[in-house]
Amino acid sequence: MNKLDSSLVVSALQEAGYDLTDSVRDADVVLINTCSVRGHAEDRVLSNLGHLKHLKKTRPELVVAVIGCMAQRLGPELLKHPAVDLVAGPSQLPQVPDLIAQLRGQHDKLLAITDDIRRPVSEAEDQALDTFEQDFDSDENQLPGQAFVRIMRGCNKFCSYCVVPFVRGPEQSRSPAAIVEQARKLSDRGIRQVTLLGQTVNSYRHVEGDRTVTLVDLLERISRIDGIHWIRFITSHPKPFDERIFQAMADNPKVCRYLHIPAQSGSDRILKAMNRGYTCDDYIRLIDGARRIVPDIAVAGDFIVGFPGETDEDFEDTCELVRRIRYKNCFIFKYSPRPGTRADQKLADSVAEEVKKRRNISLLDLQNKISEQENRNFIGQTVEVFVEGPSKNPHLNASETQALPQLVGRTGSDSIVVFPGPANLAGSFLSVRIAKASALTLFGEVAPQS
Ligand code: 5AD
Ligand code: SF4
Repeated sequence: MNKLDSSLVVSALQEAGYDLTDSVRDADVVLINTCSVRGHAEDRVLSNLGHLKHLKKTRPELVVAVIGCMAQRLGPELLKHPAVDLVAGPSQLPQVPDLIAQLRGQHDKLLAITDDIRRPVSEAEDQALDTFEQDFDSDENQLPGQAFVRIMRGCNKFCSYCVVPFVRGPEQSRSPAAIVEQARKLSDRGIRQVTLLGQTVNSYRHVEGDRTVTLVDLLERISRIDGIHWIRFITSHPKPFDERIFQAMADNPKVCRYLHIPAQSGSDRILKAMNRGYTCDDYIRLIDGARRIVPDIAVAGDFIVGFPGETDEDFEDTCELVRRIRYKNCFIFKYSPRPGTRADQKLADSVAEEVKKRRNISLLDLQNKISEQENRNFIGQTVEVFVEGPSKNPHLNASETQALPQLVGRTGSDSIVVFPGPANLAGSFLSVRIAKASALTLFGEVAPQS
């Protein structure tokens, strides 16, 4: 979501005549797009602002903008920071180019956030966000041939630990017509893979006349666009989950067989305290059902360790769930208390930092072992890969002696594949034969193309 927001703002500023620079020393304007999900992300922003404060001593004309979730959360408090000129929330991103122009004319601070974040979004606001989304959905700032398309904004789930409903506002589904038109325009520009984005993407719902358009309908409508070859969607919530989504994966070759579906914990007691709305058994039944319909579906998860009151037994239940599901990969986070959330208001952050750290490492170790075992099954197989470009961390590979650069791509089920090939393959589909596997990466060689 944040990558998409950054790329929209960059495109809008490029349209207004700005260029990107790699060095803050060359910049006239510095924008920091921010995440509030964990305290650590916010701490890094504050540390960056500390550096910028020094830079501004010698270059007072430098404009510094903090945009996104942290801007919405802290608003006026953040504007008081000596380095900060502009604070703009996620709903105010369309105004950012104008606000920066104003700041460069005179030199006053500006605040643009939503006053009452949980109030229903007005038609005008919604329209402004939609137009912004459509006008600046450039692939220039993303991977070649790929684009993100937001289908929903906000969240109504109110998981007790989570700040998102308080910074991104109420859940709202964009109109299917706007989404499909955007996908069509992207396809005309050469986009082959779209990733549909929403905080709870499977709860997409839009009333159109006397029927309700769901994610299943959207997948079907977008798959009718010839140029679009692969469609992904992230992130799903386990409840409620419409099983027709799995059927679409099974029947429609354009729908990638990949499901990112956070469980957050394997302990029913903790799931209840997290306000997740399902039990561990519900979750297992859902994934078992998915695998009956789509046997080769790749499942990825998120877990929070060290939630208030999490005991060794609760943590063991989480490990057991990870062993039972055999995820493709998991993102694991240490609980971070977020001001304003129910968990922070009602529950003490009782699990010691060393215990959180230990549980984090041990769950990651467990998952890595599973990922490695699962990845070994790919050895000898030929997989279809969408090529992203040169690999950023050239991995040691059987072909390391070859002259060609190492490219990185992904399979439809989101496995990372590294193989030697010419850089101009970025943005294309290829068959790759897998020769080696680690927990995180498959290694191979380009196979004869069918
Ligand atoms: N502390 C730690 N992790 C969190 N997440 C969300 N809120 C918190 C928090 N307060 C994690 C969840 C979510 C992912 C995006 O971030 O696992 O799925
Ligand atoms: Fe946060 Fe829960 Fe909404 Fe995900 S579903 S964004 S964890 S409140």
